[in-house]
Amino acid sequence: MPVQQRKPVEVKLVRGGAALPPGPDKGPGRVTLVGAGPGDPELLTLKAVKALQAADVVLFDDLVGDGILDLVHRKARCLAVGKRGGRASCRQQDIDDLMVKFARKGKQVVRLKSGDPMIFGRAGEEIERLRREGIAVEVIPGITAGLAMASALGISLTHRDHAQSVRFVTGHSRHGTLPDTLDWRGLADARTTLVVYMGGRTVGDMVARLVAAGLPAETPAVAVRSVSRPSEGRWAGPLSLLAEGAAGLGLDEPILIAIGDSLGAAQALDMTEGLAAFG
Ligand SMILES: C[S@@+](CC[C@H](N)C(=O)[O-])C[C@H]1O[C@@H](n2cnc3c(N)ncnc32)[C@H](O)[C@@H]1O
Repeated sequence: MPVQQRKPVEVKLVRGGAALPPGPDKGPGRVTLVGAGPGDPELLTLKAVKALQAADVVLFDDLVGDGILDLVHRKARCLAVGKRGGRASCRQQDIDDLMVKFARKGKQVVRLKSGDPMIFGRAGEEIERLRREGIAVEVIPGITAGLAMASALGISLTHRDHAQSVRFVTGHSRHGTLPDTLDWRGLADARTTLVVYMGGRTVGDMVARLVAAGLPAETPAVAVRSVSRPSEGRWAGPLSLLAEGAAGLGLDEPILIAIGDSLGAAQALDMTEGLAAFG
């Protein structure tokens, strides 16, 4: 199904940064790609907060957590340019054009992305375009959802008894299906932890492909909705039940999936533990 397109939406901040001092002196226009982390504003880096306070324009994605925009300087323009699988999205080309337009006007532009900009964030395409246009670009890392999930569950993705590598995998191609370039035999390695982004809609197919490639159906798995946000939800169980477990968390909010023996400890956890912290 073709993804619907939408225009960037100007957002007026209600509380944004009123008490914060203005940013440092401005030089020529530039773009800073900022990682907003998984949602909890306390997981932002100090550098990210400084960039939000110094920005003239913030172009932000749908998955950026609510409290994070409160840190933007109140005089900054904020434009929602979100792209979400299966929903109306801004075209990448329009987002690139906006960054270029504002930077050419001498603005300090922040391109605010969920998690880390360099993980499934199309940062590569944006950096390429900005470099081609001769516009200065900097990247401020953020905590990627997969690592925030490991911390939230208190589970090491590389527990040395279980996994010698971690793979970040996308469950979503341009067409909304599983990417056809995934190497299923390689992914079905029992000594690797798989962390699957954008896999909420394709998890059933993914499980079938992994089992067919030799990963045991009883391999431990977890699915976590909205890591670090008030609506965080968790499921843990065997790979064979993962599709049902993930479906139970719904498709309206982001879901992260992890598979591998390192997740075995999750099955012994009280999956509601820690959630009260956000309640
Ligand atoms: C386009 S990718 C962006 C990933 C982001 N750059 C990062 O490093 O986390 C979007 C996917 O990231 C995952 N994701 C992002 N934030 C999440 C969160 N707070 N909880 C669960 N999954 C999240 C989901 O799998 C979602 O479909």
